[in-house]
Amino acid sequence: MAKILKRERLVPNIHLIEVEAPEIVRKCRPGQFVIVMPDDKGERIPLTIADWDIQKGSITSIFLVVGTSTHKLANLHAGDEVPVFVGPLGKPSEIEKFGTVLCAGGCFGIAAIYPIARALKEKGNKVITLLDVKANYLLYWEDKLRAVSDHFSISSRDNYYDCKEYIPYSLKNILKKEKNIDRVVSIGCTYLMYTCAEATRLHEIKTMVSLNPIMVDGTGMCGACRVTVGGKTKFACVDGPDFDGHLVDWDELFMRRKSYFDDEIQSMCYWERKNFP
Ligand SMILES: Cc1cc2nc3c(=O)[nH]c(=O)nc-3n(C[C@H](O)[C@H](O)[C@H](O)COP(=O)(O)OP(=O)(O)OC[C@H]3O[C@@H](n4cnc5c(N)ncnc54)[C@H](O)[C@@H]3O)c2cc1C
Ligand code: FES
Repeated sequence: MAKILKRERLVPNIHLIEVEAPEIVRKCRPGQFVIVMPDDKGERIPLTIADWDIQKGSITSIFLVVGTSTHKLANLHAGDEVPVFVGPLGKPSEIEKFGTVLCAGGCFGIAAIYPIARALKEKGNKVITLLDVKANYLLYWEDKLRAVSDHFSISSRDNYYDCKEYIPYSLKNILKKEKNIDRVVSIGCTYLMYTCAEATRLHEIKTMVSLNPIMVDGTGMCGACRVTVGGKTKFACVDGPDFDGHLVDWDELFMRRKSYFDDEIQSMCYWERKNFP
C-alpha cells in the first residue's frame, strides 16, 4: 500500500497526485515511470514521474482523466491508499550535453517533460521549451518550466499566448529561426509526438519521444507494450519508454492502442452508472 499525500485538480481534466514512496524516490531518474493501481479491483496503469521530493520521500505524477482508472484516481484524496505503486520503471532519458535541446510538451506531457528539461539544463544545455495547450485555462506548471528554460513559448489554439498553431507547426517555425537545434524531446499524446517527429524528420534532428502503449506488468513479461522501432520489436516498459521518433512504427502503435477500445468504453459506462446512478 502507498499513501496519497496530495491529489488536486490542476486544470479541468488534469490532476496531480503525490504519493509517499521513499524507496522509489531514492532511485528515480528523469523519464522513468511508475505503475499504479487505483483500487484492489482496478487495473495497473503507467504514469510518468513528473517530480519528486527527496526530503518528503514523495513522487508526483500528473494525469489526464480519460477512462475508468484515471477517473478512480481523480476521486482519491490525501490520506487514501493505493494497493499498488511500483517503480521506478523504464530506462531513464538520455541526459547529456547535446548543445541546444528543444522540449515540446502537451497535455500530461507538459509535466512529464519537466524533469527532463531540468536535468538537461543542469547538464549545461540551452533549453528551448515549447508547450501546447488547447486554451489558456488548460496551462499548468508554467513557472516550473520557465525556470529551467532559456527560451520559453506557449502555443494555444485561443491565441492567448505566443502563437496559436498546433505544436508541429510552431515547432517548424522555431526550426526556421533557430538553426542550431541539436535534439528535440517531445512528450504528450501519441498524435502530438508523431507530428513532432514528422516535423523534424527533414531537418534530421534527433527527436526522442516517450511512447505510451498499453502496459500491464511494466517489467517486460506480458508483451502488451510491444512496439516496433527501427524494424525491431521492443517492449516500451523495459527498452523505453523513450525512443527515436523517426524510427517508430507509428501506424502499429496507433492500432495497438485501440485494442481494448470497446472494453474501455463498457468499463467506463459501468463505473459511471455505479457511482452516479
Ligand atoms: C510509460 C507511460 C507513461 C505514461 N504517463 C502518463 C502520465 O504521466 N499521465 C497521463 O495522464 N497518462 C500517462 N500515460 C497514459 C496512461 O497510462 C493512460 O492514460 C491510462 O492507462 C488510461 O487508463 P484509463 O483506465 O483511465 O483509460 P482507458 O480506459 O485505458 O482509456 C480510455 C480511452 O482514452 C484513450 N486514452 C488512453 N490514454 C490516453 C491519453 N493519454 N490521451 C488521450 N486519450 C487516451 C484510450 O484510447 C481509450 O479510448 C502513460 C502511459 C505510458 C505507457
Ligand atoms: S507492459 Fe508487459 S511487457 Fe511491457
